[in-house]
Amino acid sequence: MIELVNITKSYDGKINVIENLNLKINKGEIVVLIGESGCGKTTTLRMINRLNEPTGGTIMIDGEDYTKMSKIELRRQLGYVIQKVGLMPHLTVGKNIEIIPELKGWDKQKRKDRAYELLNVVDLPPEEYYDRYPHELSGGQQQRIGVARALAVNPDIILMDEPFSALDPVTREQLQKELLRLQDDLGKTIVFVTHDMDEALKIGDKIAVMKDGKILQYDTPEEILKNPANDFVEYFVGKDRLWKSPEMLRAEDIMHKTLVTIGQKRTPAQVIEVMKEKDMEFIFIVEKETSKPQPPIGYITRDNLRKQGSNNVKMADICNREFITIQHDAKMTDVLKIMEDKSARNLPVLDDDGNLIGMITTASILNLITKAVVGEEESQ
Ligand SMILES: Nc1ncnc2c1ncn2[C@@H]1O[C@H](COP(=O)(O)OP(=O)(O)O)[C@@H](O)[C@H]1O
Ligand SMILES: [Mg+2]
Repeated sequence: MIELVNITKSYDGKINVIENLNLKINKGEIVVLIGESGCGKTTTLRMINRLNEPTGGTIMIDGEDYTKMSKIELRRQLGYVIQKVGLMPHLTVGKNIEIIPELKGWDKQKRKDRAYELLNVVDLPPEEYYDRYPHELSGGQQQRIGVARALAVNPDIILMDEPFSALDPVTREQLQKELLRLQDDLGKTIVFVTHDMDEALKIGDKIAVMKDGKILQYDTPEEILKNPANDFVEYFVGKDRLWKSPEMLRAEDIMHKTLVTIGQKRTPAQVIEVMKEKDMEFIFIVEKETSKPQPPIGYITRDNLRKQGSNNVKMADICNREFITIQHDAKMTDVLKIMEDKSARNLPVLDDDGNLIGMITTASILNLITKAVVGEEESQ
């Protein structure tokens, strides 16, 4: 675990470019630092690497104050990837990857084996690329070498400063996917700097939104999207982004929350009245009509009621008791799949105690699409 405690940084002894910054990064997590240019992302990363020393505060790595570790040793334990890859132009790809292993005194064969292994990891066949020079590679390939180099001595922690921002969108997306795959396979702790919210949401386990040397919010992508801590975070995230990120959405985010239900002892005539008044085609039956959510007993449609000859029955006797439900925290993909598989046009949403708290209808889905395409303001 990396822990930044009350970190302050001033370059000129007057202005703090980092102000009382606290950040805990758990083992195996990808943490993204995001914010506008000049907010202190690179400074923060470089302090973790000890390329910059904090003016105040401490940094702990696995509980140990890192100022007590040797700088050189520390830096070799960390992999570092920057935007401008920084490959040595006069060295081959292989030699570039082997720089730190060589500093560490690995013998020639061990270094070469490792370089071959890593070229395979970043999907560049070693037979073809080991002896090439950096200028013979595309930007995306160079960046892959940068990643391979950072992994060379198998560091637990990898620091990445806008590593993909100079790449075209297609290559960039490819490398983002590969980073996630690498992370799955190798389980590194990664601190990743970007100014691109799409990138942050895609790869971060957690995101720290920074402004003026402070962290405004440190949370999961889902929380940042759904509960931005303040106006700046909301602005920075973009109001409509939640609706454009279906993988972040849960059943409860899109359901209709104002739900009219009816008690099981009601008669058909009474229920028809309610449904007419509210313009409903179907209604859910619960035990009692209270303001507290209750488990659904069944549902009835207007058609069912019209065909009901007698008014001398209760809803409990005539309602349909077979229906599909969905949990409030189900992912949108599951919601859509169920609606598709079961041809369900209406999906009651249940809380953890099995109470009915909302309804997803085809209209909710349509509303969602509208928000994603048109934006939130216009669709409300
Ligand atoms: N070596 C330096 N000397 C003086 N000021 C610096 C230095 N590096 C960065 N700064 C200043 O510190 C602030 C944060 O910069 P930086 O960490 O590079 O931000 P970011 O990476 O978020 O764009 C900026 O105001 C920048 O001008
Ligand atoms: Mg920077």
